[in-house]
Amino acid sequence: MADSTKTQLDPKALLAPCPDAIIASYDSEGKANAMAAAWCGVAASGPEQIAVGIRPSRYSIGGIKQRGCFTLNLPSAKFVKEADLFGMASGRKINKFAATGLTPLRSEVVDAPYIKEFPYSMSCSVTHTVDLGAHILFVAEVKEVLADSSCLDAEGKLNWRKADIIGYDTSTKEYFRFGEVVGQGWQAGKAFLKA
Ligand SMILES: Cc1cc2nc3c(=O)[nH]c(=O)nc-3n(C[C@H](O)[C@H](O)[C@H](O)COP(=O)(O)O)c2cc1C
Repeated sequence: MADSTKTQLDPKALLAPCPDAIIASYDSEGKANAMAAAWCGVAASGPEQIAVGIRPSRYSIGGIKQRGCFTLNLPSAKFVKEADLFGMASGRKINKFAATGLTPLRSEVVDAPYIKEFPYSMSCSVTHTVDLGAHILFVAEVKEVLADSSCLDAEGKLNWRKADIIGYDTSTKEYFRFGEVVGQGWQAGKAFLKA
């Protein structure tokens, strides 16, 4: 029976909001470049792997394939303009680091730069490359995670609200701040279990 409370959506609205991941790499000449990638998520743990979908036409593809690595950087809200520029302009035409004034620093564990001013960066080494047609899916193992010390809680874990990380809605094209905590994982569901 049809559910009158639901409306069919364009599949492009799926899984929003996405992370506003900024994928940084060196090109064939060693120039630092970065692009926005909302088609991105956790793929596995033990070891931790992430997956990023990148169109073959992106300039970044060449460097990532050649060097087999990249960094994934998450911007805080104050860098929304810089993050957007990384997704609007191609490294083929401009130097995005020079344009935004952001600093690419060489990762100590992979041959790729991370973005100094962003509060969170992962250095990733590609393990699988899957041609999906419109996108190339890179699955990559996380080799190191760096977070700004000023964004940690008392237990040394990253506090996402202190870091002020943003998300992205691909259907409305809006960037979001994360909101309030509404429950505790592996706890909230206990309300349905008998004591
Ligand atoms: C918020 C946002 C998310 C994006 N997500 C993706 C993505 O997941 N995959 C992709 O191939 N391009 C994505 N793009 C487009 C690329 O970031 C854009 O084409 C960029 O200019 C490519 O840079 P490059 O040519 O220097 O590699 C996104 C753009 C924006 C603004």
